[in-house]
Amino acid sequence: MKKVTFESTAESFQEMIDHLPDERPDDDRPCKCGECDGYGHVIDSDGKARFCPNFFEQKVGPTLDTLRRSEKFVETPTFLAVELLKMDVLTEGKPRAVFLSGSHGRSKTEASRALLNEAALNGVRGHYVSFPELIKARKTGYDGNAVIQSHLRAIQKSRIVVIDEIGRESQHGNEDHPRSMLTEIIQYCDRQRFAIFITNLSIKEIDLYLDTYAKSRLHGDSGYCSWVEDFEGADLRFEGFE
Ligand SMILES: Nc1ncnc2c1ncn2[C@@H]1O[C@H](COP(=O)(O)OP(=O)(O)O)[C@@H](O)[C@H]1O
Ligand SMILES: [Mg+2]
Ligand SMILES: [Zn+2]
Repeated sequence: MKKVTFESTAESFQEMIDHLPDERPDDDRPCKCGECDGYGHVIDSDGKARFCPNFFEQKVGPTLDTLRRSEKFVETPTFLAVELLKMDVLTEGKPRAVFLSGSHGRSKTEASRALLNEAALNGVRGHYVSFPELIKARKTGYDGNAVIQSHLRAIQKSRIVVIDEIGRESQHGNEDHPRSMLTEIIQYCDRQRFAIFITNLSIKEIDLYLDTYAKSRLHGDSGYCSWVEDFEGADLRFEGFE
């Protein structure tokens, strides 16, 4: 199976649609799936247009449903948790978060990005943040601050937010930056939007990153966040699809 990449998100997909020319020669239609109008639109029987899923995937990446249908798909606790979250995200459920703590190659990133894709396909705005990049930005003064602000703005506009690789920056010592950054993000998300927090650290280790506020929002009985720990299974980077 062809390797899937996730460089783009809902926003760049929207940008791409915005820049499609109105008229194209017949043989130059962007989608050749044969199931849509060739421009990435499917017209339903009730006359409503929606995105062509085939075109969307070519441009943006797979959805959770596509991953599940793949020959080498493995159902991990992580994947299941993200799939369950999707139900609520797409049905306007009450915002909630999951904290995914697991070893490498357990579908944490893959499933979360697929959820963002699927959300975008359904007109739901999402945002992906690499936590180490944010911490790097925090350490680089003025330019870095602009990066952080743009992420925080994007988070505020989103219904579903993914914060990936929390803890991967820990090699660089000082835990104050990560701790305060995480707290800030939690403040933006808490009960207002769906969120997936991702780490390779164990739940016990990640506790060092959480100040009292973060703990009360994520651990406590606030009911906002649930936790999934997934360290037992195989590393799918070597056994999974690709
Ligand atoms: N549900 C899955 N079934 C099969 N293979 C998978 C699955 N999820 C991920 N993979 C494979 O494992 C690789 C790493 O997955 P990824 O989600 O990036 O892991 P991590 O949990 O470390 O974020 C992917 O590139 C893909 O090849
Ligand atoms: Mg990952
Ligand atoms: Zn199509």
